[in-house]
Amino acid sequence: MSPEPIHVVRPFLPPLAEYVQELESIWETHHLTHSGPKHQALTAALADYLSVPQVSLFANGHLALEAALQTLGVTGEVITTPFTFASTTQAIVHSGATPVFCDITADSYVMDPELIESLITDRTSAILPVHVYGNLCDHARIQEIADAHGLKVIYDAAHAFGVTKDGIGVGSYGDVSMFSFHATKVFHTIEGGGLTFADERLSQEFAAWRQFGQYGKEDSGAIGTNAKLTEFGAAMGLVNLRHIDATIEARRQLTLRYREHLASVPGLSLGEDIPGIRHNYAYLPVVFDPEEFGRSRDDVLRDLADNDIYARRYFHPLTSQFSVFEGRFPAEQTPVAAGIADRVLTLPLYAGLPASEVDRICEVVLAGR
Ligand SMILES: Cc1ncc(COP(=O)(O)O)c(C=O)c1O
Repeated sequence: MSPEPIHVVRPFLPPLAEYVQELESIWETHHLTHSGPKHQALTAALADYLSVPQVSLFANGHLALEAALQTLGVTGEVITTPFTFASTTQAIVHSGATPVFCDITADSYVMDPELIESLITDRTSAILPVHVYGNLCDHARIQEIADAHGLKVIYDAAHAFGVTKDGIGVGSYGDVSMFSFHATKVFHTIEGGGLTFADERLSQEFAAWRQFGQYGKEDSGAIGTNAKLTEFGAAMGLVNLRHIDATIEARRQLTLRYREHLASVPGLSLGEDIPGIRHNYAYLPVVFDPEEFGRSRDDVLRDLADNDIYARRYFHPLTSQFSVFEGRFPAEQTPVAAGIADRVLTLPLYAGLPASEVDRICEVVLAGR
């Protein structure tokens, strides 16, 4: 048995000396926050890495999403997916709009574009799809629908850092995309997040939003909040960016190893690579068919915990089923999402996880059948 418990993720840390070296100039400038030199350098470096025209940085991904919704003037109803982290839905509610839940596809768990039009009403102002696990939404079809109905499209790309399709960064889709740079993500700034977009004018709006709506130094021209990324976070981002390609390659190798053990087992569904897409291997979701596999997702979750391995039920429950909504959104409205939420388990995956541990995790998954 491994001496250390294995969790679903473990934050990446670069060599300490590299981070310390990156911090040294902060001691010279005393510039700790407020869009300092690190913030500016990271903004430029991320625009380059993500191949997007504009990047705006925030204290976390959630506030970045709220900034996008509020700055684009989203009101009324927002069509979104319930198969996501709490943040997506709460950003809509916190911004004063109502989430309208669209079901997902059974193979990649993203919003099913063919269902969107049936949910549009005269109150709909935006579509908020999620590239869940880094799986790409059908952005071309979603844009077509949005254009036909005059809707904004804001992507939750929290999981999709570094994903490209035919060489184009996913942050180029829609009006705005949000990336999370939380410690557990493929790329991180400890806490942090970013918006990517093409419309240059939004830059100033987002900068004001994260500093109490201040366009200058004294007056507030809008209602915003405090959502600034610190220079320490930005410095961590600058260092981590040097390691990102190696990180993604390590995740790819581990994913291939999981697939070797599990992909052809009856009753288990693992994702696969799609030609033309550069995946980031952000998560390792496995969907169980208990009849065919012989054990349920929750049986396997327990077996793993008995071995000090902590997989997670991402994403269960659906955000539409949170107790705070008190039954307002019946799960039957999104039957595919409800079925996946009941059967999905996300297995440990992070750069630095030994391949031998992947072998052991897979042994435990398969042992009880
Ligand atoms: C799908 C999704 N959306 C939004 C967020 C919010 O990001 P953050 O934790 O940076 O606020 C997260 C992550 O935690 C997420 O997984």
